[in-house]
Amino acid sequence: MFRLRCAAPGAAGGHPLWLGPGALDGLPAVWRPGWHAAALVADATAFRLHGAAVVRGLRRCAGTVRVYEVPPGERHKSVATWLRLADRMLADRLDRGTCLVALGGGVTLDLAGFLAATYLRGLDHLLLPTTLLAVVDASLGGKTALNRPAGKNLLGAFRFPAAVLADTRLLETLAPREWRGGLAEVVKHAAVGDADLFGRLERAGNGLRRPGSLDLDLLARAVRVKLEVVARDPFERGRRSVLNFGHTVGHALEAATGHRVPHGAAVAVGMAVEAEVAVERVGLPAGERERLVALLGTLGLPARHDAAFERLRPHLEVDKKRRDGAIRLSLPARLGRMAGGRTGWTVPVGAAALRRAWERRAAAPGRAR
Ligand SMILES: NC(=O)c1ccc[n+]([C@@H]2O[C@H](COP(=O)([O-])OP(=O)(O)OC[C@H]3O[C@@H](n4cnc5c(N)ncnc54)[C@H](O)[C@@H]3O)[C@@H](O)[C@H]2O)c1
Ligand SMILES: [Zn+2]
Repeated sequence: MFRLRCAAPGAAGGHPLWLGPGALDGLPAVWRPGWHAAALVADATAFRLHGAAVVRGLRRCAGTVRVYEVPPGERHKSVATWLRLADRMLADRLDRGTCLVALGGGVTLDLAGFLAATYLRGLDHLLLPTTLLAVVDASLGGKTALNRPAGKNLLGAFRFPAAVLADTRLLETLAPREWRGGLAEVVKHAAVGDADLFGRLERAGNGLRRPGSLDLDLLARAVRVKLEVVARDPFERGRRSVLNFGHTVGHALEAATGHRVPHGAAVAVGMAVEAEVAVERVGLPAGERERLVALLGTLGLPARHDAAFERLRPHLEVDKKRRDGAIRLSLPARLGRMAGGRTGWTVPVGAAALRRAWERRAAAPGRAR
């Protein structure tokens, strides 16, 4: 078990993060005396598989335990679901002595975090991530979000939890596709900030394809990359945008395909394409781009997509990193070291250069997905 701390603005010393098998047993240790009720906001699938143990744990801590299930799926990260949950909690007369406990993947954590930020102007909350993506990414760094028809994550607030308990036993029930999606973010963290982790992932190879198979030490290293970035720039004024590597193109691909390409796969394609740009623009050695593409393949992730670049283009134009009309990318100068330290950690890239990179990847050998 790793007992880490996440820097959180305002909280002296940050908040605890327990990571490993049995982390859920830490519930009584992180529970605060002022919390007399628990509102468990849970992904319905995660609740069916793992809810009983969580409810048992909560009953030991709180006098009242209420459960609010969220149907699985990105479309439920919505204003409608947020409002429905808030109204039910109000009907149940939950007051500010309630701790909101979120159990699920990134969808549930983003939604529940926003509910915690807004219900009665703010409740304390705990995050219990149940997907690999949520463990290495969505449970860290205090971002909460809802989607709107105009785009993903367009409403939200920064709200740091009181603690994160990431019990890795829960990851063993993930579908292979969800597991692979999380692996894409692990690769991203290695590429962004830990070259040694990248090498270890290469050595572990396709042994990582089975859900739950990632060694705890490697998982902790991927988590630390994000923690370190967030600690230096909690509100994304600059450095934190390095975590967007692969996401500018990835988000555009998701949107262009109506989310038929899942997030992790889209980020994998995005990293491969953005690495092409990085070779041209910031001197990423071509051999390192090849290592990235090879690792994605080994892990069962795509590195190219058949869609015409024109389909992505309108979606690139609404990226949150855009400034003064230019598309900006976070690019690695080497595996494990990001470029752009002098330009706010993003690099302006013309649409023509991005198109060339997209088309070079599309023409590369290997199967498109
Ligand atoms: N806040 C952040 O910093 C941040 C960072 C990255 C991603 N995100 C958000 O996270 C979301 C994606 O998260 P996700 O990939 O976890 O998706 P998700 O929450 O939709 O979960 C994926 C699927 O796995 C199922 N599931 C969850 N836990 C399970 C378990 N233990 N066993 C079996 N099935 C389980 C869910 O029911 C769902 O069908 C996106 O909305 C993204 O925007 C947020
Ligand atoms: Zn992501």
